[in-house]
Amino acid sequence: MHDYPAIRSDLRDDNRGMHVIRGLYSADEVEEYRDYCHRFMKRAPVIYERINTDTMFDYVHPRSHDNVPRTYRIYQFLHNHTDDISARIIERALRIRDEIESAWLDDTIYRAEKEKLQSYVIVTRYMGDVGMLPIHQDYSGPAPLPLIQFWVSLSQMGVDYQKGNLVLHTRSGKSIRVEEDLSIKAGDAVIFDKSLFHEVEETLLAPDSKWGRWTVLIGARADRDSNWNSLRKRLRYNRLVKTVGSRLKRTVRFGTSQA
Ligand SMILES: [Fe+2]
Repeated sequence: MHDYPAIRSDLRDDNRGMHVIRGLYSADEVEEYRDYCHRFMKRAPVIYERINTDTMFDYVHPRSHDNVPRTYRIYQFLHNHTDDISARIIERALRIRDEIESAWLDDTIYRAEKEKLQSYVIVTRYMGDVGMLPIHQDYSGPAPLPLIQFWVSLSQMGVDYQKGNLVLHTRSGKSIRVEEDLSIKAGDAVIFDKSLFHEVEETLLAPDSKWGRWTVLIGARADRDSNWNSLRKRLRYNRLVKTVGSRLKRTVRFGTSQA
């Protein structure tokens, strides 16, 4: 049982805006989920845009702010997972998320924002020695209370990678280098306010790294695309829909035993 009042207090604290639940997932669960995602990434369709609809299939989105291939993302949609490892991972976090947020639903603007946005999941594999994300916010809308998401490390700093913290910038101006400052282990969940500015430092693989840097964001949220917009995006990128496995092997070093 989690201390929900304490979690909400941390999330609303300008010096924090985040809360850690240690060991939300076991080592076995992390391994099973990461193996599933790794296999999926090799055969998944690749689309170079984000598409959010209630019928969208899971796919891979290569994501970078420049011409260097820095990250590959899997977008997982809840409607595609009812009885598998992804469903078990996702449901546990979203149950806790919804319990935390339930205390704030009397606020009509907050409630409307929560109901409007589609929840989904982003699994990210960071390319060896180049994977990073520049500073950004995941939400900048009118909700007056925290809309939250769960970030979970699926590999281990110090074992799989040497550098590459998630850095959260609090509302009071502090910076929290998550893995190192909070001694985060694979399977720990960092719950944070989507409106916090955050970034990911450039990844540096560990010697003989098996996995490199893998993370999952559960409870990412976005406006749904209209049917027309979804179709337009899919047609536009249809010629680019290929599986990602061979492309990864050709172009990117992830880790010594995974390439
Ligand atoms: Fe983000």
